[in-house]
Amino acid sequence: MVHPLVDRYGRVHTDLRISLTDKCSLRCTYCMPAEGVPWLQRDMILTTDELVRVAEVAAALGVRTVRLTGGEPLLRKDVVEVVARMSRVESAHGPLELSMTTNGILLPKFADDLAAAGLQRANISLDTLRADRFHELTRRDKLAEVLAGIDAAKASGMAPVKLNVVAMRDVNDDEIVDLVRFATERALEVRFIEQMPLDAGHIWSRVRMVTGEEILERLEEEFRLTPMPGRASAPAERFLVDDGPTTVGIIRSVTRPFCGTCDRVRITADGQLRNCLFSREESDLLTPLRNGGTDDDLARVLHTCIAGKLPGHGINDPDFLQPDRPMSAIGG
Ligand code: GTP
Ligand code: 5AD
Ligand code: SF4
Repeated sequence: MVHPLVDRYGRVHTDLRISLTDKCSLRCTYCMPAEGVPWLQRDMILTTDELVRVAEVAAALGVRTVRLTGGEPLLRKDVVEVVARMSRVESAHGPLELSMTTNGILLPKFADDLAAAGLQRANISLDTLRADRFHELTRRDKLAEVLAGIDAAKASGMAPVKLNVVAMRDVNDDEIVDLVRFATERALEVRFIEQMPLDAGHIWSRVRMVTGEEILERLEEEFRLTPMPGRASAPAERFLVDDGPTTVGIIRSVTRPFCGTCDRVRITADGQLRNCLFSREESDLLTPLRNGGTDDDLARVLHTCIAGKLPGHGINDPDFLQPDRPMSAIGG
């Protein structure tokens, strides 16, 4: 019998986000310092067998969708094998639905193999269309690779392909309309994201965050936006642009938190379960995975983790504290 992952507030957890590595090939200023961060020890990173086992146990508890994240998940050498094996894991609703969030740089190399292995969807981070700005923002001159990666994802048949844009005041907020046009021309869905306090340097500021409301105002000067129905637990509010078919999404994590419908649980690359992006506690799966724990033991850790989930992220509370792990080590 399935014992679903239900928390004290009745939220059922059906989505698992798995970080494959904490390493990344970019150094986005809002995420990491130029020198990087202290990386996880190699032998602490879950092996492919361990990842698949976690997915199997989670699927038996009602998880239906898995998103592979990083750092940058494509830096993991065996990423295609991970996808191939995960895509064969059965949930109560058929095989797990698999997606990935990536910076896109390695997609020209991997997209076809990933799609063939069972990766259904990809979300690609792209904060600017200007090469000089991309270089400044990510500290790497890689815009051309990311653009080629977006084309490769489309060509591989993954669908939908979404673009993630973290909106930042006086950094890229003048490109909102250009990014929608870019997405329209390529049949992509672009989502504008409110920046959350998850940077390694703890220098997030509410003033530099561009709010969803501001983004919508800018878009409405240019386009006719029609709200679209969506999955209740989806972070993005979606709008049809003019007469379609392009849609644009706004992710208002800070000014309109969606924690009340959260269905997510996360596991870091070193096997620590997190019931929230912002949780200050983690539940250790690595130890039972490596010390002969049974599937029931692993399931118990998952249940305990979910039982301790708070009602929301608390970013807007006066006593809010950023988690110790930066976004790159949690997986977004
Ligand atoms: P789909 O809607 O399934 O395509 O994926 P997604 O939007 O949930 O995933 P993605 O990794 O592309 O994340 C997009 C943005 O939403 C990123 O800025 C994430 O950090 C943010 N985000 C993802 N999950 C959560 C979450 O659980 N809570 C909050 N507050 N933000 C999240
Ligand atoms: N706030 C919101 N989104 C962020 N991302 C990275 N850092 C932040 C942040 N502080 C985005 C990335 C990627 C996804 C995993 O999260 O751009 O698209
Ligand atoms: Fe869920 Fe935490 Fe994200 Fe809110 S911030 S939606 S509770 S993971």
